[in-house]
Amino acid sequence: PAQQLAVTPPMGWNDWAHYQCNFTSQTILDNAKALIKSGLAAQGYNTVTIDDCWMQKDRDANGDLQPDLMRFPHGVKPVAQAVHALGLKFGIYEDAGYETCGGFAGSGDPNGGGKDHFLQDARLFASWGVDYLKLDGCNVYAPKGTSSEAAYRKAYAAQNAALKQVGRPIVFSESAPAYFQDSPDWYDVLTWVRYYGQLWREGTDIETFDVKKPDAERFDSVLWNYAYNLPLGRFQKPGNWNDADFIIGGDSGITLAETRSQVALWSMMSAPLILSSDLDKLSPQSVAILGNKQIIAVDQDPLGRMATLVKRSSVTDVLFKPLKGGDYAVAVLNRAGKSLQVDLHPSDFGFAASAACKIDAQDLWSGKHQSTLSAAIAPHDTAIWRIHPSTPCGRPNRKGTITM
Ligand code: GLA
Repeated sequence: PAQQLAVTPPMGWNDWAHYQCNFTSQTILDNAKALIKSGLAAQGYNTVTIDDCWMQKDRDANGDLQPDLMRFPHGVKPVAQAVHALGLKFGIYEDAGYETCGGFAGSGDPNGGGKDHFLQDARLFASWGVDYLKLDGCNVYAPKGTSSEAAYRKAYAAQNAALKQVGRPIVFSESAPAYFQDSPDWYDVLTWVRYYGQLWREGTDIETFDVKKPDAERFDSVLWNYAYNLPLGRFQKPGNWNDADFIIGGDSGITLAETRSQVALWSMMSAPLILSSDLDKLSPQSVAILGNKQIIAVDQDPLGRMATLVKRSSVTDVLFKPLKGGDYAVAVLNRAGKSLQVDLHPSDFGFAASAACKIDAQDLWSGKHQSTLSAAIAPHDTAIWRIHPSTPCGRPNRKGTITM
């Protein structure tokens, strides 16, 4: 039987949010080494992916992709080998259209003439030892009078068939839904991506690099992607994941509280955890947040469930997620610019409202165990607990308790 890929949400690092096209093979290797040195690789961040701009605008005489020689003077294969030698997996970027978003050679058909390069590129990637492919969706050609959704579906299906044909297990990350976020076809695209790949970007890019933007917009951008991703639970299951885009902790425009929020929210959603920052510059505090074992366990929980939003006020979101084995994760996001005191009760989640219902709640930031869900939450921070309800709590039963 074929090996099942990405049974838990993929984790790793990608250059894009921090470097865009300003990188060389050295940048990739430095960050791969930093994943090991920081200990983050040991916590599961195991895939190093090169995003756009690694290739030239034109293919060679055989139609093969050519690495940009300024960035990769010795080609891509030695970089893949060096990444593998560190015990990490290696990922690469291409595009389902005829040009990448950055304007470099894409894998897709330029004009409906059937001249795509999906198989040729898949063979090349397999020969380099690629373990993960992010296939973006800029410049996908749709013949006049046909639906653009059909053109995307054809391209992603062709890439899936090509990967099967080359036979190397390669995790396939699709970007198609991101190109339909504002379209009525969004849900249709979200419905078919699972047949072809293991994860898909459902929406817009998390913004980190527009230096003219005030820092506050970076966290807005995190919350925006969270809001789009949270209702997509029905598209997700082990082996198929909604991707809410990069974890930008370590970027200078985001505070430690905001980093905690992103990691906690992404983990509550079982979203891929793909770091995108200069890992050599991470503070010890950032490393501790990004590498928090217990929170990563919530992200990687085998049930792969999306959290449910059980309560919302103008400044808080309360999330609830079942975990394998009968525990639950609870998180409270504080959107406010000031500290908030929250006091939640087991009955808020539908557990029995009797005194016999006791919970053990482990605060996953401090590691401390409490018997109540009470916390002071700093501005833009997120509290997160793993709770173990006692037998009299029963199973969560809503009985109309949702208040929003
Ligand atoms: C799109 C993607 C980004 C990145 C860039 C590269 O914007 O969503 O993640 O891959 O293209 O050009």
